[in-house]
Amino acid sequence: QAKVELDLSAIPEGKNVIIKWRGKPVFIRHRTADEIKEAEDAKWESFRDPQPDSARAKKPEWLVMLGVCTHLGCVPIGEAGDFGGWFCPCHGSHYDISGRVRKGPAPLNLEIPEYDFPSETSIVIG
Ligand code: FES
Repeated sequence: QAKVELDLSAIPEGKNVIIKWRGKPVFIRHRTADEIKEAEDAKWESFRDPQPDSARAKKPEWLVMLGVCTHLGCVPIGEAGDFGGWFCPCHGSHYDISGRVRKGPAPLNLEIPEYDFPSETSIVIG
């Protein structure tokens, strides 16, 4: 299983990066304090794929997800949509700042890959 290591110190707060892992895009967002609060305060119990933010981010400031829409596999656009997260232009699915589907045809939240933090400033995907 190929792993990819990345230097997190190069990603400022409020920015997304996209890396390739096993041929798929992986989204990494350095979330702001406001974004973390929004993600944690959302009433997730009523969402289509109910998950608390704590089940989606090992460290609240880093959101790491496969950039593959759970509807039919398009790549969602960052900093877009009605919920401050991602928007899939193929058929209009909206994901929030935790990557949870909030509107549109996608059945599930954006998938979280295996990842770990070997140090304070690095992440390994896979
Ligand atoms: Fe994303 Fe259909 S593939 S909404």
